Amino acid sequence: MTRPVRAAIDLKALRANLQRARAAAPLSRVLAVIKANGYGHGLARVAEALHDADAFGVASVEEALVLREAGIAHPIVMLEGFFEAGELAEISRHRLSVVIHHEHQLQILEKTDIARPISVWIKIDSGMHRIGFPPEQAAAIYQRLRGSNKIAARIRLMTHLASADDRGDGYTGRQLTDFRAAIDGLDGERSVANSAGVLAWPQTHLEWVRPGLMLFGVSPFLDGVAQQEGLTPVMTLSSRLIAINRFRRGEAIGYGGSWVCPEDMPVGVVAIGYGDGYPRSVAAGAPVLVRGQRATVVGRVSMDMLCIDLRGAPQVQIGDEVELWGRNLPVEEVARLAGTIPYELLCGITQRVPIVEQG
Ligand SMILES: Cc1ncc(COP(=O)(O)O)c(C=O)c1O
Repeated sequence: MTRPVRAAIDLKALRANLQRARAAAPLSRVLAVIKANGYGHGLARVAEALHDADAFGVASVEEALVLREAGIAHPIVMLEGFFEAGELAEISRHRLSVVIHHEHQLQILEKTDIARPISVWIKIDSGMHRIGFPPEQAAAIYQRLRGSNKIAARIRLMTHLASADDRGDGYTGRQLTDFRAAIDGLDGERSVANSAGVLAWPQTHLEWVRPGLMLFGVSPFLDGVAQQEGLTPVMTLSSRLIAINRFRRGEAIGYGGSWVCPEDMPVGVVAIGYGDGYPRSVAAGAPVLVRGQRATVVGRVSMDMLCIDLRGAPQVQIGDEVELWGRNLPVEEVARLAGTIPYELLCGITQRVPIVEQG
């Protein structure tokens, strides 16, 4: 038996989640955000499954080229644009679109010769305060780009939401108002909505939506889970029980002896750890599923293994499959117990975890 950890990727669920985004924003085109190796699911694989998307969003020219090499001919948008002049030749050659968010990119563009005009999105900072031009500069930047022969005629406009994951937060409405005011009178398609915008803020849909997380079947909301949003989890992370041992009351489990058996009990060992991307920060008591029953993590997560309390599942055996998150166990729940967000868990699956496609 080879080491049994696996990430199963349900391509049918991926396609269904794209349809869910389309149903939520029926008048918008979908720029599917698949950066960070398709949120850990595999970049080319995800793009191929999502061929019905209108465009793809990535974080670097390297990611964009992986898609082109896989034969993906869709528009591809580099969401942080380019970082240095050396990228512009590839960007032009492969017809990549770039987000322009800062003066220094404009200066690079103005100084660099390119073979063919490139297509740009201007990013306005409507309140996220990460990247983007201040709203009062939007018109001037737009005119400057319009006057450049290095830029394709069609300029698009975007901003990013800071708090759309909280349905009750008025900040999203204010960001939208400020974005609209900043680009008033500028001709161009607009994009605001991330997954939370797609699902909860219809006024942000405009011409293009940019869902990422929801495509992978995960709720973008603070306390949500996928099923509530009509989404199907795409990644199921699993491994198997490689040992079942009995310990006596008072015996401590794992590094540091941080968890002590409250009674004589069986403890299972699962072949997965932080070396695979399962978070070490998970609180003792995090759930796993074994033979469809919940068991909980006890003691500290090690690099290659973790231990689970098998008092509630006495009939399980060595070799049984254990689900860490996915189809039957929400990654949202595990993320909360690990003090993080599902994005980090999905992107954090390490290279040694084999990916198995389904559907
Ligand atoms: C600019 C931009 N748009 C859209 C997204 C997609 O966000 P989400 O995964 O929350 O849908 C991201 C992700 O971080 C992003 O950076």
